[in-house]
Amino acid sequence: MTAPRLILGIETSCDETAAAVVEDGRYLRSNVVASQTHLHARYGGVVPEVASRHHLEVILQVVDAALAEAGAGWNDAAAVAVTAGPGLSGALLVGVNTAKTLAWAHGLPLLGVNHLEAHLYANWIEVEGRAVPYEEPPLPAVGLIVSGGHTDLVLMRGHGDYRRLGRTRDDAAGEAFDKVGRLLGLGFPGGPAVERAARAVPRPVLRLPRAWLRGSDDFSFSGLKTSVLHTVRGEHGAPPPLAEVAAAFQDSVVDVLSKKAAVAAAREGALCLLLSGGVAANGPLREALAARSPVPVFVPPPVLCTDNGAMIAACAHYRFDAQRAGWDLDPDSGLQFV
Ligand code: KG4
Ligand code: ZN
Repeated sequence: MTAPRLILGIETSCDETAAAVVEDGRYLRSNVVASQTHLHARYGGVVPEVASRHHLEVILQVVDAALAEAGAGWNDAAAVAVTAGPGLSGALLVGVNTAKTLAWAHGLPLLGVNHLEAHLYANWIEVEGRAVPYEEPPLPAVGLIVSGGHTDLVLMRGHGDYRRLGRTRDDAAGEAFDKVGRLLGLGFPGGPAVERAARAVPRPVLRLPRAWLRGSDDFSFSGLKTSVLHTVRGEHGAPPPLAEVAAAFQDSVVDVLSKKAAVAAAREGALCLLLSGGVAANGPLREALAARSPVPVFVPPPVLCTDNGAMIAACAHYRFDAQRAGWDLDPDSGLQFV
């Protein structure tokens, strides 16, 4: 029997300082996330300088906590993996430099991971409450990555073998949630706040537009956002209650994302659908996708949908050789993976 491979994953691309230990790309040994949301809330969005400074303040504690919670020491670790991009440059730099220093000091390999690819790998992690017995997602799969900065639909043929099917042409889905949250005065981040407000209106009467972009797997959410603005300003008649607008907005986003992902999965002969990224924490999206998909849908638990170190470690396990980095690893805020 070969010894289990423990990878320490570090993530600092945006506003969570996160570290986790994952065994063999699958078993979650620890998952520590220090969120900075409260620091950015009063600005209504993430302030890059504030993010980097806070990452720097807490990163070592977060790493220590991840090792302690895993009951592991540096001698047990097989590698240090870190988000190399995409993300905020200054924020990424803190994670990359910390990972480099720790890997070098402890004589461990360093791996540079793509944040978006890693979001998909949250679906490889075994956690309580998920399919029992553990089932690895079968490939090929269609992956829908919906985060604050990206909305990508990809075909995953194998580990490291991707084809882009579509992406947003303007706002990312999470960005739209955040902007609408701000418009409705619900605070930051908008995603969870809009979902909470929408719960009061299970079936909204208000119907907001859907950008289907037929014949393409691309998305567009900026028209919807504008329509929300006109609606709350009363330009389409008396403004409806905010909860009604929140529910109608969420309905539109969920309808488009779930329909287009399900259609792509069928067309591409995918064996499953992988939902991932912060917006994947959205309950109605998870339900709609499960109801519409022609193939099984994998969705990480909400804590593994939003940014975390576990997905970085899991991705590094499957892409160990390809992601092996030198001591000259630099963060790349626009890093692509497909
Ligand atoms: O993946 P993530 O944590 O960070 C990025 O890589 O961007 O995604 C953050 C995004 C934010 O826009 C946030 O509003 C959205 O995910 N989000 C949600 C929910 N939870 C987080 N959107 C809709 N419903 C949610 N429950
Ligand atoms: Zn993310």
